[in-house]
Amino acid sequence: MARIAIIGGGSIGEALLSGLLRSGRQARDMVVAERFQERASYLADKYAVQTASVADAAENATYVIVAVKPTDVAQVIGDIADAAARAETNTAEQVFVSVAAGVTTAYYEANLPAGSPVIRVMPNSPIVVGGGVSALAPGRFATPEQLSEVSAIFDAVGGVVTVPESQLDAVTAVSGSGPGYFFLMVEALVDAGVAVGLPRAVATDLAAQTMAGSAAMLLESIDRAGLAGAGTFGPVMDTSPAQLRATVTSPGGTTAAGLRELERGGLRAAVADAVVAAKTRSEQLGITSE
Ligand SMILES: NC(=O)c1ccc[n+]([C@@H]2O[C@H](COP(=O)([O-])OP(=O)(O)OC[C@H]3O[C@@H](n4cnc5c(N)ncnc54)[C@H](OP(=O)(O)O)[C@@H]3O)[C@@H](O)[C@H]2O)c1
Repeated sequence: MARIAIIGGGSIGEALLSGLLRSGRQARDMVVAERFQERASYLADKYAVQTASVADAAENATYVIVAVKPTDVAQVIGDIADAAARAETNTAEQVFVSVAAGVTTAYYEANLPAGSPVIRVMPNSPIVVGGGVSALAPGRFATPEQLSEVSAIFDAVGGVVTVPESQLDAVTAVSGSGPGYFFLMVEALVDAGVAVGLPRAVATDLAAQTMAGSAAMLLESIDRAGLAGAGTFGPVMDTSPAQLRATVTSPGGTTAAGLRELERGGLRAAVADAVVAAKTRSEQLGITSE
């Protein structure tokens, strides 16, 4: 089985590690490089996985997943490139995978051995519970086979879509920041539920399960339309949430009364502005190849 090195054992690194083990990969096929010693010991104890320095972890791995903060990427690439330069023979081709927000494939390509395949991934925080969604963007030298193998790695922690790298700032604004938007929506719904007489714990339970159940209905309808995970657009996909909303809105009923107030309060415009602001911020934070 291909060996996977995870560089950075923070929340994303641990989510990948536990998701891969859950999906049937063996701990002996994985290695983690984590510079914070206490954290490295915790991962080694909890997952019975080997830990090593960045250079040693990367050396024999087919997939090298860089999951450190964007500001630590340069150092990690330096260690990997030094190890590659020291190695007398390059036995097998390595695929470099980066989840670091804003760091481009061109940046990796410029700092790794010439022609290195790189795949950039934008996951989101629910990957820590196996319910995330990750957008994959291949660099110049990644092959379709490598893309599908990396897709299988991220499939262990949620859904996967493939997009051109130019769309990753937009992805960040939708699914990367999305959990924050939904938490705010739930928070508002809970406060509103308390205001109309529900105990907070009951309102929280109702709101959270309603969000999860609505998402499940929507995903099932997308699945039925045969479009799940394709990164495709089309009339059925576009209208699916609107169709579901129509289905749950009886004429003159309670949902219609509530929705009218959400529209009056400018929910759509606020969401549109939020996504544009998040995309602009993502562009500002980006690290390019220069
Ligand atoms: N969290 C999310 O929801 C999310 C979503 C999308 C993308 N991302 C991206 O995923 C990446 C990881 O995020 P995270 O939340 O997992 O970050 P994190 O919790 O800070 O984890 C990174 C870990 O890597 C370690 N590290 C840093 N430099 C290292 C080096 N040279 N050698 C070995 N270990 C090193 C850090 O150690 P120290 O503690 O000593 O620094 C830290 O434990 C980030 O680039 C972020 O942009 C995160």
